[in-house]
Amino acid sequence: MLGTHHLHLIAILFLLPCSCSSASSYIPQELHKGFTASPESSTASFQAVLSDPSGNFSLGFLRVNQNHLALAILHVASSEPFWLANPTHAASWSHTTRLSFNGSLVLTDPETRVWWSTATNGDRALLLNNSNLQIQTRAQGTPLWESFNFPTNTLVQGQNFTSHMTLLSLPPNAFYSLRLGDNFMGLYENRHFLYWKHTALETKAEIKEGQGPIYARVNSEGYLGMYQTNDKLPADVQKFNSFQQPVTAASFLLVRLEPDGNLRGYYWDGSNWLLNYQAITETCDLPRPCGSYGLCTPGGSGCSCLDNRTRFEPGGCFNHVSGDLCGGRKSYRVVRRSGVEPPHKELVSHVTTSSLAECELLCQNNCSCWGALYSNSTGFCYVLDYPIQTMLGSGDGSKVGYFKVTKEERGKMNRVWVVVTVLVVVGIVIIGGAVCMTRWKKRNGVKEDDWASPGPYKNLGSASFRSIEMSSNGK
Ligand SMILES: *[C@@H]1O[C@H](CO)[C@@H](O)[C@H](O)[C@H]1NC(C)=O
Ligand SMILES: *[C@@H]1O[C@H](CO)[C@@H](O)[C@H](O)[C@H]1NC(C)=O
Ligand SMILES: *[C@@H]1O[C@H](CO)[C@@H](O)[C@H](O)[C@H]1NC(C)=O
Ligand SMILES: *[C@@H]1O[C@H](CO)[C@@H](O)[C@H](O)[C@H]1NC(C)=O
Ligand SMILES: *[C@@H]1O[C@H](CO)[C@@H](O)[C@H](O)[C@H]1NC(C)=O
Ligand SMILES: *[C@@H]1O[C@H](CO)[C@@H](O)[C@H](O)[C@H]1NC(C)=O
Ligand SMILES: *[C@@H]1O[C@H](CO)[C@@H](O)[C@H](O)[C@H]1NC(C)=O
Repeated sequence: MLGTHHLHLIAILFLLPCSCSSASSYIPQELHKGFTASPESSTASFQAVLSDPSGNFSLGFLRVNQNHLALAILHVASSEPFWLANPTHAASWSHTTRLSFNGSLVLTDPETRVWWSTATNGDRALLLNNSNLQIQTRAQGTPLWESFNFPTNTLVQGQNFTSHMTLLSLPPNAFYSLRLGDNFMGLYENRHFLYWKHTALETKAEIKEGQGPIYARVNSEGYLGMYQTNDKLPADVQKFNSFQQPVTAASFLLVRLEPDGNLRGYYWDGSNWLLNYQAITETCDLPRPCGSYGLCTPGGSGCSCLDNRTRFEPGGCFNHVSGDLCGGRKSYRVVRRSGVEPPHKELVSHVTTSSLAECELLCQNNCSCWGALYSNSTGFCYVLDYPIQTMLGSGDGSKVGYFKVTKEERGKMNRVWVVVTVLVVVGIVIIGGAVCMTRWKKRNGVKEDDWASPGPYKNLGSASFRSIEMSSNGK
């Protein structure tokens, strides 16, 4: 027969480990005024500060490139970040960095500045079971602020993507964006160059002029829909592989703008993210599949260089491709190549000329032109007013490209002088740059180890979604 002493002992034995583990892993589901948290040096990768009721998602400190910190909403089971408070700047992983709630959620580092703030005056912060972070008042109603209104590179199921929002791929590739137009969604490079466009088919519902802007949403039934405000039926449906598969409590869908400029959908089957949708299915239709002055030939032969004397290296065929050709004594040489077309030519404007020579002349005499492509059969002349990225290989020899390449040297006779001049200029620039940098840092109170380049997010982007590699290896 068990005495009361035994009962106590058993109770202690059972309760002790429980209370210990729950005390160390306790994550609140609401933050109130007065809350503060700082990153701990012992944290390896993620330190949760707020959990959603299901325990599937957490808000917390994500360690990036060892010494930096991003405030992130993470999918716990896969450690995939869905949202970052400030994708372009990371704070430092230091005990002086602090997340606090005083009506606003604020990330500060007293030695530097306020890194990020919701700029609200609410009563509590909480994370909903769809990964939406909200600042609410006691009176409930519409939240004062929600992370769903400020998407990073990911849209989760049920999240409304409006014409005021942008999905941006993460640094260092933060030049691809997804935005909505009047009746379409588009992927853009550097905000203006459209490389993928999906226009609403309007089979189930029409988009009516003057009835408000459209918005997009990942539907849990397995599609990316476009809707017009107040319309229940979608004006457009882009089906995922999981279209009309039974929706279970374990499954979850999202779309993400990835570092290669593609928009991909993923399906959480309870233990893995499976590739479920791709806006761009042909590698050569991606914005920069072979880098600058590259040539992408559909059908598997892959990447080469527009200049057939240059060997293809990942990252581009020529090193010095930036700035413009206008002003000063900018000189260039010309590379011609037959069998090439502009990528996404249906989205690029053209003029009609009577000959190849006339097309080339339009470009030759205009310093904002980087290249021109001519199709002898149609007479279409495409004038490119941006530095040359990857062109598309076509078997058709009557399609000819003319490309300007900035000159790096003036010829063999002058080479020695060029080298000497370059060395002197580089020396001056380095010394001048160092002096300026020191002054600038002093003036702005920037510490040496501060975030200078968006490098740390490299890891975030490339380590993301192992399932892509899995699915592409599986082919
Ligand atoms: C919360 O703290 C931030 C940073 O210290 C400050 O700028 C802001 O005014 C505070 N907000 C309120 C409502 O007190
Ligand atoms: C999420 O929360 C909503 C209401 O807050 C509830 O109706 C829904 O069932 C929850 N979903 C899951 C998967 O728990
Ligand atoms: C998205 O928009 C629809 C229609 O306006 C609305 O019913 C729904 O609540 C919104 N969802 C979220 C998460 O805000
Ligand atoms: C959320 O939690 C439930 C229960 O543990 C699980 O079945 C489901 O897969 C989770 N969802 C996600 C998106 O992780
Ligand atoms: C490169 O292209 C030029 C002009 O189109 C051609 O004359 C030459 O034979 C090509 N060289 C090689 C190695 O293919
Ligand atoms: C030069 O090219 C740019 C871009 O294609 C064009 O806007 C501009 O009008 C051209 N200038 C002349 C003088 O043709
Ligand atoms: C271009 O088209 C003209 C007439 O359409 C034709 O005579 C000429 O041979 C073509 N040139 C090439 C290189 O295909």
